[in-house]
Amino acid sequence: MRVMLSAETIAARVAALGAEITRDYTGRNLVVVCTLKGGFVFTADLIRAIDTPLMVEFLRGESYGEGTTSSGVVRITQEPDMLLAGRDVLLVEDIIDTGQSAFQLLEVLRAHKPASLKTCALLHKPARQVVTVPINYLGFTIKDEFVVGYGLDHAGLWRNLPYVGVVDTEG
Ligand code: IMP
Ligand code: MG
Repeated sequence: MRVMLSAETIAARVAALGAEITRDYTGRNLVVVCTLKGGFVFTADLIRAIDTPLMVEFLRGESYGEGTTSSGVVRITQEPDMLLAGRDVLLVEDIIDTGQSAFQLLEVLRAHKPASLKTCALLHKPARQVVTVPINYLGFTIKDEFVVGYGLDHAGLWRNLPYVGVVDTEG
């Protein structure tokens, strides 16, 4: 396991993103939509770096099996309970890889007719992008390496690592 982004590096970036989101959403109706499962650690830290009233909802789309490549089709298994119509929705993703998951999740949220809809992702792997998804707030752009930790998993494991690391999938 090699450390790609240390806990300190992540914390500094999350604080900056929180400040940016605070500036943009003060006086609005912010609903942060956390994508499960991978987005839960990032979302938990991010909302505490945002200093304006907000609500949190959860959206779960499953595309991965136990491998490291996306199937491309996302099955929605949990949708926000709350009415998102007229609210300023911010989708929070762990990583935008091919972009297919985020693209489909944004479609689901758009059907709720929010007043605005933006995306915040901790990580972006432009090398593997298939579908273009606008990322309004981005933590880090990374190389095409399979990463785990800080919410991201491989076969369900490693989500509890406090940093983002690269795992050797050959091993
Ligand atoms: P996409 O649809 O290809 O953009 O894949 C997005 C989802 O795949 C993310 O929400 C992650 O759950 C998972 N994923 C993509 N790349 C990685 C990675 O490097 N590590 C762990 N999960 C990943
Ligand atoms: Mg995942």
